[in-house]
Amino acid sequence: MSNYVEPGLVPKKKLNNGLEMPCVGMGTFGSDRFTPDEVSAAVAGAIRCGYRLFDCAACYGNEDQIGKVFKAAFDEGVVERKELFIMTKVWNDMHREVEKSCRKSIEDLQCDYIDLFYIHWPFPNYHAPHCSVDARNPDSRPFSVDEFVDTYRQCEELVEKGLIKAIGISNMTIPKLEAVLPLLKIKPAACEFELHPCFQQQEIFDYLTEREIQPVGYMPIGSPKRPERDICPEDISDMEMPEIQAIAKAHGVHPAIISLKWAVQRGQIPIPFSIHEKNYFGNLKCVTEDPLTKEEMESIATLDRNNRLVKGQVFLWEGAKDWHDLWDEDGVIVK
Ligand SMILES: NC(=O)c1ccc[n+]([C@@H]2O[C@H](COP(=O)([O-])OP(=O)(O)OC[C@H]3O[C@@H](n4cnc5c(N)ncnc54)[C@H](OP(=O)(O)O)[C@@H]3O)[C@@H](O)[C@H]2O)c1
Repeated sequence: MSNYVEPGLVPKKKLNNGLEMPCVGMGTFGSDRFTPDEVSAAVAGAIRCGYRLFDCAACYGNEDQIGKVFKAAFDEGVVERKELFIMTKVWNDMHREVEKSCRKSIEDLQCDYIDLFYIHWPFPNYHAPHCSVDARNPDSRPFSVDEFVDTYRQCEELVEKGLIKAIGISNMTIPKLEAVLPLLKIKPAACEFELHPCFQQQEIFDYLTEREIQPVGYMPIGSPKRPERDICPEDISDMEMPEIQAIAKAHGVHPAIISLKWAVQRGQIPIPFSIHEKNYFGNLKCVTEDPLTKEEMESIATLDRNNRLVKGQVFLWEGAKDWHDLWDEDGVIVK
């Protein structure tokens, strides 16, 4: 079959609870640009190409359409539920009702259980869909250890009830992790956060891997079509870095493929998104062939420019200075 990668050829990562996870998956956030039907059609195509890992979220507004695609794939015998690794996330407005959110995702995705269930952001600050960058919700407040642990406890109960197999955290910082990790009964299996060549986050990457928490990298290609609210004039385009372009030329591939090879060889699990079959197929195939050399990996390691794309302004609380407050850059939790 053309455009098919045998899933067994895609390397796996073993999580701290023994679960195996493919080393690359497909994102499903339409970036406010692609409709739920376009995204779910890409998921249908991706399953047929050999993808087994999908990164979903309640707030992406497309889980029911993706669920129809999963159901059809199960019914048609394209794939069995147990062969898929399905991730989803509780949105910020449901931190006090995690089980309800999880059950809704399971129902929408028609998948019986979730393999890895994330707390999407570490605080309950909520913003309206498509709101402007300057929008502030008066109910927003700084990170609270107690509130986070309460949300996490609800996830632990979901593991005990068999609704989810593992718990993930997302958009965390080292100071927040230091505060909460000793209080958790079940260690998080993975942490999802922004990772691409110009934003390598080496410190938190090392912190997590030392503690056997698997890094999952979002926006692995630098998200060239991200929502307007996440575009700033000073942002750097990973794909236009001369070093990435030179390595891409040497391998005869698009620069996007180089970022993904780098991600997998470094040890994070990238979750690239595209609705175009040529691109999403290439993104899976590239992890099975033609690895980067040690010199190429070393060259990409020098490209970090601390270029955070998702600044998170819309989650700020009244009194917060600016988006830097969300990321605890001085090593203490900003309150
Ligand atoms: N946990 C969180 O808070 C969080 C936040 C953001 C994102 N995420 C997750 O991360 C996923 C990925 O992030 P993202 O979609 O923003 O960014 P991305 O994967 O870095 O970039 C996606 C863009 O890259 C292009 N692309 C993909 N493959 C390509 C290829 N082989 N050649 C050329 N161009 C290619 C696509 O363009 P074309 O349309 O032209 O193919 C697409 O618009 C999301 O879908 C979501 O699941 C999670």
